[in-house]
Amino acid sequence: MFGRRTGSIDVMPLEPATEAAAPVEDVAVAARVAKPDMPAPAPASEKADTGRKSPAYHTLKKEILAALINAIDVSLLGAMEMAQARDEIRAIAGDVMTARKVAISSTQQAELIEDLCNDVLGYGPLEPLLARDDIADIMVNGSDCIYIEVGGRVERTDIRFRDNEQLLNVCQRIVHQVGRRVDESSPICDARLPDGSRVNVIAPPLSVDGPTLTIRKFKKDKLTLAQLVKFGAITPEGATLLEIIGRVRCNVIISGGTGSGKTTLLNCLTGFVEPSERIVTCEDSAELQLQQPHVVRLETRPPSVEGAGEATMRDLVRNCLRMRPDRIIVGEVRGPEAFDLLQAMNTGHDGSMGTLHANTPREALSRIEAMITMGGFSLPARTIRQMMVSSIDIIVQAARLRDGSRRITHITEVLGLEGDVPITQDLFIYDILGEDANGMIIGRHRSTGIGHPAFWDRARYFGEQERLVAALKAAEA
Ligand SMILES: Nc1ncnc2c1ncn2[C@@H]1O[C@H](COP(=O)(O)OP(=O)(O)OP(=O)(O)O)[C@@H](O)[C@H]1O
Ligand SMILES: [Mg+2]
Repeated sequence: MFGRRTGSIDVMPLEPATEAAAPVEDVAVAARVAKPDMPAPAPASEKADTGRKSPAYHTLKKEILAALINAIDVSLLGAMEMAQARDEIRAIAGDVMTARKVAISSTQQAELIEDLCNDVLGYGPLEPLLARDDIADIMVNGSDCIYIEVGGRVERTDIRFRDNEQLLNVCQRIVHQVGRRVDESSPICDARLPDGSRVNVIAPPLSVDGPTLTIRKFKKDKLTLAQLVKFGAITPEGATLLEIIGRVRCNVIISGGTGSGKTTLLNCLTGFVEPSERIVTCEDSAELQLQQPHVVRLETRPPSVEGAGEATMRDLVRNCLRMRPDRIIVGEVRGPEAFDLLQAMNTGHDGSMGTLHANTPREALSRIEAMITMGGFSLPARTIRQMMVSSIDIIVQAARLRDGSRRITHITEVLGLEGDVPITQDLFIYDILGEDANGMIIGRHRSTGIGHPAFWDRARYFGEQERLVAALKAAEA
């Protein structure tokens, strides 16, 4: 048992709400002493809340919180496993309620205890959302407007923070974990939750209606290609084509809009890398889950508050080249690192991959050209294009359609230059045929009838040519 200050709960006075502030101060100090790199728990008066509970509920919660804080040595909370700390809080809060003879139903009691745990240890009203596996994104647009994405659909929840100050408090708690702070002078921050979820915070004055918090929830069990087939994102033949592309070490760019499933797809493709290969991954926030034993994971780092110590994606990709990788995987290509990735693809690191934001395979090529041009490389356009077409073998296009469904819409080969124009060839596409009565899109995947793709020789070298032909043929139907 940790940190109960008193041997027995029933000797504890329940102070009126106004006097509850004293022990709360204690707690803040104790927590800072125990773990200086963790934010101190916010005072009870600043706790985030759903804002939909009755005033009686709030009063009771405040009283119990004060008693609870008085009864435990919160300095030890930071050192405990989260589950253990929660159990401890649950036990003490239960004791407090029993001692107080609180007359609420056991369901309400459980809800209140959960709420208390969330306030003391977690992210307040976001906790129930963070606990749900079916949610892909949580979008908080100010204190009383929280949207979630479930099954491809964005919907508004009835959960809310009590006010923007409380929301900012939770934001601070999140960004503090990566050694940052958000305030007027530095209102933008990327961070990560302990479970790996990706977080972006943008605070006033930049976000006009209060702090805005966006969370891409980390999916412990990433979707597999088999699941993508099951969801209709691709057909079994298309999946086989992707598998072959991964196995025969094609250089691949995965293109798509925000949240279209690029990282998921990249993760699936890395599943076909041989276990003997040395893979180096570069990401802004480590999301990929490679199964191979020989993987080095690199992550970018933003500059510190003083503006020092930044490690950009370009720094990482350039460094990769000195690490003797067999393949380089770049989570998201956004800037001048495009040049280094292409160079890596061109210089013996076949099977390298990266994702980028674009709506079509052709646009993906224009984007890469723009990234390189804007990155300050004074190369003629033709040289850049030549470099692109000789490095990239395949572009896989992912899309989130207007009904919320995610589909792989193109598997496209990059063939070469005709004059100054890059030439591509679709191998596999998704045709939209219409819409059903529920507004869901009806479509079908099909091969374009190219029986002998440009990466044929490569497929033959790896002994995959028969499967390749069979997959393309089967997909023609
Ligand atoms: N085909 C699919 N069917 C259903 N859900 C999917 C599919 N592909 C991805 N998802 C889910 O959609 C969410 C977003 O996927 P992912 O992170 O791969 O997108 P992204 O394009 O990389 O997003 P971002 O642009 O923000 O980096 C995740 O929760 C993921 O599990
Ligand atoms: Mg991504």
